[in-house]
Amino acid sequence: MNAAPIGVFDSGVGGLSVLREIRRTIPAERLIYFADSGHCPYGGKPQAEIQARSMVITENLLASGAKLIVVACNTATIAAVEHLRATYPVPFIGMEPAVKPAVAATRSGVIGVLATGAALGGQKFHHLMRQHAREVRMITQPCPGLVEHVERGDIDSAELRALLRGYVQPLLDAGADVLVLGCTHYPFLRAVIADIAGPQVQLLDTGAAVARQTQRVLEREGLLAEVGGGGVEWRSSGDLTAVQAVIDLLWTIGL
Ligand code: DGL
Repeated sequence: MNAAPIGVFDSGVGGLSVLREIRRTIPAERLIYFADSGHCPYGGKPQAEIQARSMVITENLLASGAKLIVVACNTATIAAVEHLRATYPVPFIGMEPAVKPAVAATRSGVIGVLATGAALGGQKFHHLMRQHAREVRMITQPCPGLVEHVERGDIDSAELRALLRGYVQPLLDAGADVLVLGCTHYPFLRAVIADIAGPQVQLLDTGAAVARQTQRVLEREGLLAEVGGGGVEWRSSGDLTAVQAVIDLLWTIGL
């Protein structure tokens, strides 16, 4: 069982921002990455549809013997992780937007949360917001269109910059000094967001924390791979050749 792979999935290539951290943290593990490119983006889809896709992908990964599954997508975590945990016998690691660290980091008392509409509309996210509502002013910003740019491998065009400015500027104008990157695609836009926001604004994501949590759960369950060089197997519900070109690009850039 310890030599079995870890399954990691996202609506597309965004989960690579998490996969990279998992590779760094537990390099001996074999990984299968499933990009649901044929159904991307999830951000505007109803919860039932995201749940159904998450189940199809989980079953694909379990059929390959996955010992643990990382839902490397905030939207799918919010829509489906409880349901997955109640349905399948393996441990699931989900994403949680970096709201807690943002609350600890802000000096202005205003934080901005960038995420998909479906993630921000989910109950799980509302619960997280309620927990911190008294400590800070939290402004949420849905960002339609960003995922599509990253899926095309566009992480720095003039069109993308204009779109991002429209999302980020109102948060800065409201006094936000911390921005939560609440979608796993957005760490690939970190350089452009930092350019727009300036050096005094912190950008937080949770890829590294999720990788550490994955390691902790494997340890606790006695499932850590003891030997082996790891490696990643790529899968997609879309055109894997086209997706692979974007994967190759994103895999090599620094986050
Ligand atoms: N990477 C997904 C997330 O973290 C993107 C969702 C989408 O496909 O819209 O929310």
